[in-house]
Amino acid sequence: MTDSSHPSPLTSGARSARGFYEGDSLHIRAYDTLHGSTTPCVQGDIDFYAGLAGRTGGPVLEIGAGTGRVAWSLAGRGHKVTGLELSPAMIWLACRKSLPQGHTTAAASPTFIQGDMRDFDLGAKFGLITAPFRTFHVLLTPEDQLASLQTMRRHLTEDGLLALHLFDPRIDDLSSFRKPPQEERRGRDAETGRTIVARLEDVDIDRFNQILRNRWLYSLEGQDGAVERQEDLILTVRWTYRQEMKHLLARADFTVVEEYGDFLGGQPEHGKEQVLVCMPT
Ligand SMILES: C[S@@+](CC[C@H](N)C(=O)[O-])C[C@H]1O[C@@H](n2cnc3c(N)ncnc32)[C@H](O)[C@@H]1O
Repeated sequence: MTDSSHPSPLTSGARSARGFYEGDSLHIRAYDTLHGSTTPCVQGDIDFYAGLAGRTGGPVLEIGAGTGRVAWSLAGRGHKVTGLELSPAMIWLACRKSLPQGHTTAAASPTFIQGDMRDFDLGAKFGLITAPFRTFHVLLTPEDQLASLQTMRRHLTEDGLLALHLFDPRIDDLSSFRKPPQEERRGRDAETGRTIVARLEDVDIDRFNQILRNRWLYSLEGQDGAVERQEDLILTVRWTYRQEMKHLLARADFTVVEEYGDFLGGQPEHGKEQVLVCMPT
């Protein structure tokens, strides 16, 4: 577990173009205020994962644990949780948190480990593995997707469950996708509390490979409201469809046993979420 007494890796810097989750990007600094559990696509996900953790008895491995939104909530309900995360800055933010008020007496803090979901070896097996909040989309090739699923499979107990959350792209969107108009989000810097404004500037689509490259402009405002720092941040994702996922999962020795369109038991439907619960075949 990263020691939270280490100095902050969050620094200030000049404008640059980089990945959403690279270094100490303004996206990372604002993550908790931009992406809380009230975000529509994840509504109900914590209860959903807690239900699966209860069914399997855990322990739980979360892939792409970020700032610990899910990990800390499950830990607070008494589940043993390990969070695998690529970004040291995300882990640093996760380790600053503590168990939620009213946690069970059995609760223990989650453990956060830096690693890449395509290739890791924790030397342990888990009863539940989750990849929340559409994290799987950051894998841009079928080879990386398969490598990641096979790595997860090696970490799952024989009667364990894998829960994946992706979005469920509308079939017609790949050919006729248009940039959403004027999408803008406002959050706060985790360290200073200052306002961070995120604006979607551009979307490039590689239709052949089903890859979307979203270019966001992030602005950190000073105390007087003037822009103090700006970053072009690129979020590149691969659209992956339900039937593709089933084939990929079968190649990694998984069978889909439950599928939903949200975390509240909704029917699968293009334009909603892909919530897939899988067992070893
Ligand atoms: C959408 S966030 C989800 C965070 C958290 N699970 C939640 O639900 O709030 C995706 C996370 O995956 C991490 N990530 C991206 N690529 C990764 C990789 N190859 N291996 C592990 N984590 C990765 C990012 O740094 C980011 O924290």
